[in-house]
Amino acid sequence: MSASHSQQPLTAISPYATALRTATCGELTAADVGRTVILTGWVAHRRDYGKLIFIDLRDRYGLTQVVFDPERSPETAEAHQVASEARLEYVLRVEGVVARRLPGKENPNLKTGAIEVEARRAEVLNAAKTTPFPIADRVTADEALRLRYRYLDLRRDVMRRQVELRHRAVKLIRDYMDTRGFVEVETPILTKSTPEGARDYLVPSRLYPGEFYALPQAPQQFKQLLMVAGIDRYFQIARCFRDEDLRADRQPEFTQLDLEMSFVSEEDVMGLIEGLLIELIQSTTEKHIKQVPFPRIAFAEAMATYGNDRPDMRFALLLVELGELARLGSFKVFGDALDRGGVGKGLRAPGMAAATRKELDELQEFARLHGAKGLVTLALLPDGPKSPLTKAMSPDELSQIVARMGGEPGDLLLFVADEAKVANDVLSRLRLRLGERLGLIDPNEMALCWVVDFPLLEEIEEDGKRRYHATHNPFSGMRPGEEPLLDSEPLKVTARQYDIVGNGYEIGGGSIRINVAELQRKVFELLGLSEEQIAEQFGHMLEAFELGAPPHGGIALGIDRLVMLLGDGETIRDVIAFPKMQNGQDALMRAPSPVEEGQLRDLHLRLREPERKPV
Ligand code: AMO
Ligand code: AMP
Repeated sequence: MSASHSQQPLTAISPYATALRTATCGELTAADVGRTVILTGWVAHRRDYGKLIFIDLRDRYGLTQVVFDPERSPETAEAHQVASEARLEYVLRVEGVVARRLPGKENPNLKTGAIEVEARRAEVLNAAKTTPFPIADRVTADEALRLRYRYLDLRRDVMRRQVELRHRAVKLIRDYMDTRGFVEVETPILTKSTPEGARDYLVPSRLYPGEFYALPQAPQQFKQLLMVAGIDRYFQIARCFRDEDLRADRQPEFTQLDLEMSFVSEEDVMGLIEGLLIELIQSTTEKHIKQVPFPRIAFAEAMATYGNDRPDMRFALLLVELGELARLGSFKVFGDALDRGGVGKGLRAPGMAAATRKELDELQEFARLHGAKGLVTLALLPDGPKSPLTKAMSPDELSQIVARMGGEPGDLLLFVADEAKVANDVLSRLRLRLGERLGLIDPNEMALCWVVDFPLLEEIEEDGKRRYHATHNPFSGMRPGEEPLLDSEPLKVTARQYDIVGNGYEIGGGSIRINVAELQRKVFELLGLSEEQIAEQFGHMLEAFELGAPPHGGIALGIDRLVMLLGDGETIRDVIAFPKMQNGQDALMRAPSPVEEGQLRDLHLRLREPERKPV
């Protein structure tokens, strides 16, 4: 076979048989013993015993052991020669006979573990240099190198499984939506800025000097316009672009399941999504769902008890506010924080009273790293409480605090006093750390919940001025009857917004929208947009709302985050075939990259002189 491919066609065994192979490396079993097969794949392992050479041939479907014995026939001698020259990751084509492995040599962990293929002919389809890192399940290379050679990284079983899982998840989503009457509609990538709170990626226009398209941060406006169009049930597996700082669960381009429905309430959208998530989890994982229907928690309660609006409900460990108790005794840092409008809040770590000095120091360090001024600990040890508080409080005062925290003998209590934002942030991080440290997290559990009752607006400071900002997006509707509050107390208005959270990650969010032009205009005004800005940026939306806009609402799920949770990925980069690095670069294609002067000229662009540092 070295030059020409085998003459007489062999029986195809696999549904994936092709011109070059009759079977894949993942399917031959004892039932195939005696058959002649042709396999193709990569050299995953090679063991050379001089006379016999064993090669594990790998493809997407699995691994098959091929044995090369030079002494069977002149043909096998030739094949043996090919095997002796082959190196790891060579692409081979091997013809041979399926044989039972010698007793004791079976590998029960492998689908093909009962057999091996005795090679008669072999051909190198392509040679390979030594790869920059070994193709193995356990990662040895750093991520930058893996991303630079992503096509090698994706040869690894774990990565391939993530790619396949993502495909299955998206396929299931499409089928689920299709059965329920949703229509998939593609919306433009070259479009106009949509306010989802991040910076836009801009694309300069060649035909209109000085003008730009924006890549969509989400198809929000188009999907609402599709409702005005009467499409009634829209969805899209939509690529979104946001120029923001990257984190483990954020990429500059990512994918949403975006959907919108007409004539619905919150319950319709939430019910649809619960059904979808349950089906996804049940058919792609072994995980069990903690609670169905998914519990709902108000934003304010989530902040108070979990310290953030994406509570990880796999375990309890709730934050407790001390209120005026923080003023007890003479512990200045607590009283001072309250005087400045802050809070004193704590966490109870069950059974951790005996934590070592070193461990307590690490917790202190962790709290400081995340912005706390310090961390007070109170260990409820058998020989009495141990804490910096004992010097500043009477035993009675101390026991009031312990009672408020629900502290039991053997517990460690931890406190932070600061402005609410800092205290919540630090304690919510400590909560996760302690949840792991105390083994409270079941890796096979999915705890989903809805966060509801968000305020429509928040106040932010910009250029020294305070102004309103939409907590989600400016199209979210408000609880019926609260419209008059827009004039009197805008911060008290409740949005008809719902976020879906899984194991501490925000995996989606949506709302019932405004569909009345006048109300939408009022919200834009509250957000500080001038009449001209409203007309320029959103005139088309207001116009549509005056031409028969049905009541509507929808949601978008982050598919990358969702698949990361389903597949236990550590970051969303693990479930994106070609992600950007943490610094925003594409390591493989090397983007972004400079462009030719001529291209800039066509686009009417000139680069500014790079700023020079003074010498
Ligand atoms: P939102 O901005 O909350 O809502 O986005 C919806 C979901 O998309 C995911 N997501 C991201 N995933 C990866 N990288 C990112 N940079 C990123 N940003 C967001 C999250 C998030 O929950 N148009 C509205 C939806 C609506 O109201 O219908 C929207 O885009 O999982
Ligand atoms: P100090 O008086 O600064 O030595 O702090 C005494 C203890 O209080 C230390 O354990 C500090 O970590 C802790 N501490 C200081 N500031 C705060 C704060 N704002 N919240 C919680 N603990 C604090």
